[in-house]
Amino acid sequence: MERVNRVALIGTGFVGSSYAFALLNQGIADELVMIDLNKDKSEGDAMDLNHGLAFAPSTKKIWYGDYSDCKMADIVVITAGANQKPGETRLDLVEKNTHIFKSIVGQVMDSGFDGIFIVATNPVDILTHMTWKFSGLPSHRVIGSGTILDTSRLRYSIGEYFEVDARNVHAYIMGEHGDSELPVWSHANVGGRSIYDRIKDNPEKYDKSDLEDLFIGVRDAAYHIIQRKGATYYGIAMGLVRLTKAILHNENSILTVSAYLQGQYDENDIYIGVPAVVNRSGVREVLELNLDEDEKAKFHHSANVLKESLHPVIQ
Ligand code: 2OP
Repeated sequence: MERVNRVALIGTGFVGSSYAFALLNQGIADELVMIDLNKDKSEGDAMDLNHGLAFAPSTKKIWYGDYSDCKMADIVVITAGANQKPGETRLDLVEKNTHIFKSIVGQVMDSGFDGIFIVATNPVDILTHMTWKFSGLPSHRVIGSGTILDTSRLRYSIGEYFEVDARNVHAYIMGEHGDSELPVWSHANVGGRSIYDRIKDNPEKYDKSDLEDLFIGVRDAAYHIIQRKGATYYGIAMGLVRLTKAILHNENSILTVSAYLQGQYDENDIYIGVPAVVNRSGVREVLELNLDEDEKAKFHHSANVLKESLHPVIQ
């Protein structure tokens, strides 16, 4: 019998339902089960999405289910939990969402689930850590969306600045998915030409000092969007689909996810955004870049911010 891929989605709010829509449109999984406390919303979403199946790239089975459906899932994606109100930071959500996660992860594991977790709820690095703790799964099978979206925002902004396709920009945001994250300019390039050289090529048009503004725009993007429309969801949903595809298609793709560090970047016992090779087994490997001194200091600062937030909830 042909192997069927199943994704279980927990949380069908804005992020979850946008993820379901993007997953269906890109034809990534064979089966999608949607689980939420709000039965009517999930059931309605499943019906609505099923009505689009005739226009989707391949036939899919989509239904509203319960935790027992996680048993046969290859991936459980968690987007459930409280989200930021205008003015709130991601770290402000830590206690509320840790509490919610204890119950969710417990119920997923009780089903007999033995696949890969993708966590998207904020603060994502902390909740990925807690999912790993609550689940007892090996750390490479618990992955957070980390700075996947921030990296995409940065690539978009650099692309706009240099007027090149964002897909030809290589640049990473590392660290906390939040206020202490950092851009890795030392490894940023456009089509193989370093950002710094590209600026030198055309000093009338480009200036190194503009990079800081680009980064601030990326770091604060969510605040600006939340102020305007109350939440962010399309970008993160597409990032989650990208991650799902890298896993299900065994791509060995390098994505900036929240991965567990055991000595890499001189950090231990922490989930944080780093470039990592992702495949069917989860995080195959954390890619260790030679960060410059300033980037190293910022990365450790970001790790410390996360540790301070993790400490009270892990007790
Ligand atoms: C974002 O960065 C709020 O974490 C969410 O869009």
